[in-house]
Amino acid sequence: MKIAKNTKELNSLKGNTRPVGFVPTMGALHKGHFSLVNEAVRHTPLTVISIFVNPTQFNDENDLKNYPRDLQKDLNNLDRILRENDIVYVPMEKEIYPEPDNRIFDFGHLDKIMEGKNRPGHFNGVGQVVSVLFRLVNPDLTFFGEKDLQQLAIIRKLVEMLKIPVSVVGMPIVRESDGLAMSSRNQLLGKNERKAAPVIYKSLLEAVNLRKKEKIEIVKEKTIRQINKSPYLSVEYFEIVDETTLLPVKSWNESTDIYGCIAVKAGEIRLIDNIKF
Ligand code: PAF
Repeated sequence: MKIAKNTKELNSLKGNTRPVGFVPTMGALHKGHFSLVNEAVRHTPLTVISIFVNPTQFNDENDLKNYPRDLQKDLNNLDRILRENDIVYVPMEKEIYPEPDNRIFDFGHLDKIMEGKNRPGHFNGVGQVVSVLFRLVNPDLTFFGEKDLQQLAIIRKLVEMLKIPVSVVGMPIVRESDGLAMSSRNQLLGKNERKAAPVIYKSLLEAVNLRKKEKIEIVKEKTIRQINKSPYLSVEYFEIVDETTLLPVKSWNESTDIYGCIAVKAGEIRLIDNIKF
């Protein structure tokens, strides 16, 4: 694999090879990222992975400061799965934002619910960085994890709004052996919180089973109660929504593609997860 520290290096390493696959990341890579990278490698002769911790998507300074960073470990891991011509793009902040980015995106209701409501400005920052990265990398295919289901919907909307000629591929959640969804933030969990966290996925699976006999409101209540029983976990929201609009559904037959989306505070760390009903 090759490393590009700036856009000039990226362009000269890329040459004219097409189609280009692209996986944007903030580093602290785990098996969830590797599944995106492997898929990109499978589908394209040239894969670009960016590693950039984007300050504009953090609405909490401490979260930005504490975000895990281990570039050398990430590079070592990527070297094992990338081919010789694939590129890891590690831009400096001034490369992405030569001037402050003041753009405000109108994602409609998509950034006003769930994560958007709980992390004001977060998706606008994601829109800023991803649109810049798409312009610099100019990919044909891009790969995002379904763990961040709302982010995936925002990216699809961004691509449509800005008419960016890229296909967005969503990839299934990768889980630890005890069911916890893989996340860079898992490594920040305290011992007790980490031990308690698998109940999130367990409760989501139970929620899916409950669908057969309970109304949506009851399923929501039971799921939240089950998780909140742990002294180390506190549910921020659990919404049962339509996959495309992400709007809450009131009855099981209102949509064919229903997802349960959850955010849980585990000590200082926020964990998100989702499941298809
Ligand atoms: O999902 C992430 O890691 C980030 O939000 C992304 C898409 C790399 C933008 O910074």
